[in-house]
Amino acid sequence: MHQRETLKVNGAGHLEIGGCDCTRLAADYGTPLYVFDESYMRNMMRVYKNTIDKNYGGNGLVLYASKAFSCMAVYVIAKQEGIGCDVVSGGELYTALKAGFPADKIYLHGNNKTENELVEAVEAGVGGIIVDSFREADLLDKIARGHNVKQNVLLRINPGVEAHTHAFVQTARTDSKFGFSISDGAAQRITEHVLSLKNLNLQGFHCHIGSQIFESKSFVLAAEKVMDYIAEVKKSLNFTASVLNIGGGFGIHYTDEDPVLTDKDYAGYLDALIEAVKSKASQYGLDLPYLLIEPGRSIVGEAGITLYTVGSVKDIPGIKKYVAIDGGMFENPRYALYQSKYTVVKASDMNAVCTQKVTIAGKCCESGDLIAVDVPLPEVEAGDILAVLSTGAYNYSMASNYNRNFIPQCVLVKDGKADTIIKKQTYEDLVRNDLIPSRLGK
Ligand code: LLP
Repeated sequence: MHQRETLKVNGAGHLEIGGCDCTRLAADYGTPLYVFDESYMRNMMRVYKNTIDKNYGGNGLVLYASKAFSCMAVYVIAKQEGIGCDVVSGGELYTALKAGFPADKIYLHGNNKTENELVEAVEAGVGGIIVDSFREADLLDKIARGHNVKQNVLLRINPGVEAHTHAFVQTARTDSKFGFSISDGAAQRITEHVLSLKNLNLQGFHCHIGSQIFESKSFVLAAEKVMDYIAEVKKSLNFTASVLNIGGGFGIHYTDEDPVLTDKDYAGYLDALIEAVKSKASQYGLDLPYLLIEPGRSIVGEAGITLYTVGSVKDIPGIKKYVAIDGGMFENPRYALYQSKYTVVKASDMNAVCTQKVTIAGKCCESGDLIAVDVPLPEVEAGDILAVLSTGAYNYSMASNYNRNFIPQCVLVKDGKADTIIKKQTYEDLVRNDLIPSRLGK
């Protein structure tokens, strides 16, 4: 169970989030339902922002990695908190702009941005584009020339740091589809090349070493290696990098196997990183770079829970008990993709004692459609409300209409009030883009 103030058991023995009783939310909005705690998100944004303000003289910007949960309301919240964001597609960029997010605080990422996406970013006047390939550098230079602008860019480099996390979410090794490695000379070659392009203004470097990381030394090591690289190109190319973007990746609590981190712990990650940057800058006699960080999961992950209604329960004596819920891999594909672990609670009776281990199964037509395997739960029956905790990051954003299920609606809760931030889909939404060619007849 999380140690968060706004997630608790109320007097009726029900799970409560942001002052809202989860059984009430389930009754009012239906299930499955994504619920986001506004205070949690705002608090995490402030923790990072305050740390940069206090310990780095405000010489930096927190960019919310919006791939973790992208919708107009979350961009409005980030804007109000005075932070920036990163986007990884034209769709995320469009959503942010539509929500009134200031373009100069948006950074565009992606290992294979399309020409249209680059044009849209240049036209919007984004704060920076993180260049990921030689082809992209040349294409962007051409687009910027056509628009008569000098586009600010960073280069994504791989410092070769291995973060201890699931293999699929490690990204900064030399064998990665992202970025340029320092070790094989690619980083040096692209740096030199971009410096020769007239319509690109190279500001500095970016790296992202992975996700769901708890070891502070991984971030420190990555920051040190990029600072070493900044010193190297200062010497070899006489280029002074003014921006260092260290990516995201701070871990969150999913189950008791993960630590429960406090605000102080998250600030501590950033502090350790800041210290490393300061010490390297003084070692090499460099000015302190403007610091960008890109936390996604740690801002929205624990802010979110998903509510479900129990349907059929299938007991296979001596083997397994499957508790089927009205959601599944269409709204949380993370078990199917990564065998991710979650904490599941009986939201409609939080005081009931766990007496069994069950597997929470989704309603999609495939056996791998599971949400959590062998998790402790009290006795449950059809109609009970379950909550899966820490689902705020990479659930809605990776949801699909698989089996033509609806992507659930999202509500934002605060001080006992709930507001819909993403509407319920309808059957009409599911067929909206379908066409029947006339040659098919009826
Ligand atoms: N910056 C860059 C360049 C990234 O690639 C990512 C995540 C982030 C920032 C944010 O990392 P975070 O703070 O959220 O860990 N779908 C996977 C996670 C993929 C993460 C991809 N990149 C999952 O569900 O675990």
